[in-house]
Amino acid sequence: MRRSVLVFLLIAVAILTFLLHSVSTLIALLLEDASADAIQKSELPAPNSTLLTSRPQLIPKIIHQTYINESIPQRWQAAQQSCKDLHEDYEYILWTDAMALEFIEKEYPWFTTTFKSYPYPIQRADSIRYFVLAHYGGVYIDLDDGCKRRLDPLLSYNAFVRRTIPTGISNDVMGAIPQHPFFLRVIESLQGAKRKWILPYITIMASTGPLFLSVVWKKWMGEHADLESQSQNLQNSATSSLTEWKGRVRVLMPDEYSRHTWSFFEEYKGDSWHGKDAQLIFWMGKNWMLLTAAGQKRKGYAMVAPNGSPKLVPSRASSRASPRKGGFSSWRNWTMGGKAQERYELVEQHDA
Ligand SMILES: *[C@@H]1O[C@H](CO)[C@@H](O)[C@H](O)[C@H]1NC(C)=O
Ligand SMILES: *[C@@H]1O[C@H](CO)[C@@H](O)[C@H](O)[C@H]1NC(C)=O
Repeated sequence: MRRSVLVFLLIAVAILTFLLHSVSTLIALLLEDASADAIQKSELPAPNSTLLTSRPQLIPKIIHQTYINESIPQRWQAAQQSCKDLHEDYEYILWTDAMALEFIEKEYPWFTTTFKSYPYPIQRADSIRYFVLAHYGGVYIDLDDGCKRRLDPLLSYNAFVRRTIPTGISNDVMGAIPQHPFFLRVIESLQGAKRKWILPYITIMASTGPLFLSVVWKKWMGEHADLESQSQNLQNSATSSLTEWKGRVRVLMPDEYSRHTWSFFEEYKGDSWHGKDAQLIFWMGKNWMLLTAAGQKRKGYAMVAPNGSPKLVPSRASSRASPRKGGFSSWRNWTMGGKAQERYELVEQHDA
């Protein structure tokens, strides 16, 4: 009797440890405010400042965007044009589906099978942006982000991403030098992250989308904590022209992203899909046990999740996460199949 209690306790502890380990990054992500790597307001010259010319340029002047083909829907043409107009001296590359596949086949043949086998086109749209940034460097911009000022000041970092509130980072605007170690890590991590999570929305978020990127980012910072703190010390010291850790990823905060006249971008999406991303991550954080159970069940740990128990009732998620229409209602539609596999429908929802 005693022994069986002990065995039970041991198993319970083992399971709990395992679960905690599985979600520790997710929990750490919820607590990460990115302040250590935030691009400070004082670092950025005003839009027409003469200080601009004194800043080094590290990231190449290339703007990457993606779409199915060259026929950009009318509602995004203004956004696209605003970026082109402000950056006539930048190279502009619109990665169509055909170009993306050709590029992967030629440059990253080890990824071709995974790339082709993604069930949702948005997963290809997500992953191709990491590859082109890792390969060519430059700045990736989602088609529904318009440009309000030149990106030049951001080119003086080795890499930057955009913060989302309340947690994590987005993959809609990112910049990097070619072969930046963080983006190399990102492309290396894609195959391992390709898993099914029952719901398409979560599958996409966690395999290629902002949640995937945020998790890799959080792990990246954890692994390089010593270099991180060195870089921060350098930044704060008088001799800050010394070499900074190249792998550091700076973070563009919401004010600099889109809120003000001096911000870099303008969202053409209206009802923000990204807000919902963050809300979903929060929701996932709160329900991590359920999600982990759901995820592990696929790997055969059925004891954690007896058949049918991990019900991720989408309607509850949608009502709690957001009273607005858009991503979540469409997300519910996906679970019913139908047009679930439509190309780029997540992108289509940006301006829902
Ligand atoms: C910067 O200068 C350009 C061209 O002179 C002008 O159109 C733009 O409004 C200025 N931007 C700001 C924020 O002052
Ligand atoms: C581009 O893709 C859209 C959506 O699938 C399609 O309606 C359109 O005909 C395509 N345009 C060209 C030029 O292939």
